[in-house]
Parts: sequence; structure tokens; C-alpha cells
Amino acid sequence: MPSSTVVVLTDNIDRGHDLCEAVRMMAGCRVADVEEQWLNLEPVVGVIADVALERPNSRRCLQRLTVRCRDRRMPLIYLTRTGTDAVLREAGNLGITACFSALAMEPRTVVAALFRLIAPAKTTTDLLVEHNFELVGSTFSEMFDTARSGSLDMETVNEAIGPLLVAIREGGLDRWITLIQAHDDTTLRHCLLVASYVAHFAIYLGLPSSERTTLIRAGLVHDVGKALIPLSVLNKPGKLDSSEMATMRTHAALGYEILAAAGSVDPIILAATRHHHEMLDGSGYPDGLQGGQIGDTVRLLTICDIYAALTERRPYRPPMSQTEALQILRGMTGKLEPALVEAFAASIEG
Ligand SMILES: [Fe+2]
Ligand SMILES: [Fe+2]
Repeated sequence: MPSSTVVVLTDNIDRGHDLCEAVRMMAGCRVADVEEQWLNLEPVVGVIADVALERPNSRRCLQRLTVRCRDRRMPLIYLTRTGTDAVLREAGNLGITACFSALAMEPRTVVAALFRLIAPAKTTTDLLVEHNFELVGSTFSEMFDTARSGSLDMETVNEAIGPLLVAIREGGLDRWITLIQAHDDTTLRHCLLVASYVAHFAIYLGLPSSERTTLIRAGLVHDVGKALIPLSVLNKPGKLDSSEMATMRTHAALGYEILAAAGSVDPIILAATRHHHEMLDGSGYPDGLQGGQIGDTVRLLTICDIYAALTERRPYRPPMSQTEALQILRGMTGKLEPALVEAFAASIEG
């Protein structure tokens, strides 16, 4: 469950649908009806009530709720559909924080108003991006934990795709990348960066949504084999020696096996996971593939993977700048497809 949740109190579930969708962009959403007793308000941060105050049971519910909200210093927005003086007076008497017209205000505006009361120092976009990072991060961690047992549930992976795209669309790539870079788990940071660069590149290239989704899935799982690499090697705070490097390099084939064990995984994703360290000149691993043996998705993922690795902070070196990292990619003559590298550079340089 997300660490912050908004309660939508409604006496009409269908009518509350758009409001709930708007809330879910920013926080978890708990829908409650007028029979709710408000015994447990964790981890609720605010309430939007869309009920008819004229009805006695709605009024009683709101009375109980306003007391709890006041105790917790939590904002409660009341949406009125009539806006009569009597209703506004009643709302004021109950101690409701703010009263808006449900007919005049879009659900997203109502939710933005609630979050201005909850976190006045943050913009709506900051909160949206942070919330979606929490969703993507927890989904990735769940996926990675499952992978330690040698398998994986693609449905879990899929849950990260929507929030990742929403965060990039609403907040832009740079803001999203900054948030990921601040995370302390190296593997989570790397995989989310790769998935995000892949998503941004796919959008830039105008790929159809099904191809875009496949690429993001591949980005999220491409290093899942690292779940089976000893932590002493995976998180070593220094350069790996040759034997540790050999162990680390097994992650590509191990990842393939984890996905194969999961069953019915798209062959494109299987290939991307096994071959994202292959180079066009045959110098890569694990299979030493060359040129035409390496598919388009793999080529694209490999470029994003190298760029992410170069621009990440590591315990033993500072992150490389965008310019330096692109220079290295451009210098990998014979290993990467030059036209694709240039297209990637254009997508990043915007
Ligand atoms: Fe890798
Ligand atoms: Fe990687």
C-alpha cells in the first residue's frame, strides 16, 4: 500500500470514479461509504467527501469524520452539488476545511487543492512524480525479491509500466531521473534508469504503444539475473577483480533462465535479457553474437543500458556527465549501431 492514502467518501460509487482516478495519480485511494466508522485512519493524509449533507446518515458520518480529521490535523474537502446557503453553513459548522462545487471543479483540480493543504511546500507535479516513483520502486523490489527464488511474475512487472509513463509524461524525464538517481539501491536505480531511458527513447521514436510496453518490460527485467549474484559481488564498493567480473557476467544467462522459468514471457524480452551485453562485433557476452544475430530491441536496450551505467553514481566513481557518456557511446565504433546511438543522443539532448 502507498505510504499516503486519500479517502474518497461517497454515497455514489459510480459518480466517485473520476475523483478516485485523479487521487490515484497522486496517492493511494481508499473509497468509503457513509457507514464507515473511521476506526483506522492509517496512512490517510486527507479526505474528499462527496455526499449529500441533507441525508441524516451522511451528516452523521461527516460529523464522526470531522472530529477524527481535526484530531489528526488532516484536511477534509467537502464537495457540494447544491451550494445552497444551508449546506455551506452546515459544512462550516461541521468544521470542514474547504468546500468546493462538485459541478464546477474538475476532479484533478479538487485533488490538487487537497494536496496544497497537505503539502503546501510541494508542487502537484512533485507529489505526483514522487508517488509514482514509490509505486514503481515497490513493484520493482517485489519483482526482484521473487526473482531470488528463481522465478518471477510478469504481472508484477506490468504494474510498474503505467506509473513510469505517467511520471515521465507529467514531470518530464529530467525530474524523474533525478528522483531515481537519489535512491540508495544500486540495482533498483540502474534498472529503473534503463527502463526510463528506454521508455523515453521509444516515445521519441514514435513506436507503437505495444512495442513501447515491451521495451519498458525488457528494461525493467533485463538485469533480473543479478538477483542470483552474491551480494558481496553485486554491491562491492570497488572495481571487480577478474573472477568477480566472471561471476557478475553470469547475470545475463541467469536472468534468461529466471524468465524462462516464469513461462510465457515474450521471446523479445527473453532475448533482450540474455543478450543486452552482446556487441555487434562479437566481443560481447554470453553468446558472442554478431551483427544481424542481434535484434533491434536488444540493440536499443544495450545503448540505454550503457548510458545508464555511465551516468549512475557508483561507490568508486562519480557519475559521468551526459556529454561524456554520449561521447563514449559514439566512440564504441563497430560495437553499437551508429544511427541508433545518434537517435538516442537526440532523444536525450531533446
Ligand atoms: Fe546487465
Ligand atoms: Fe543493465
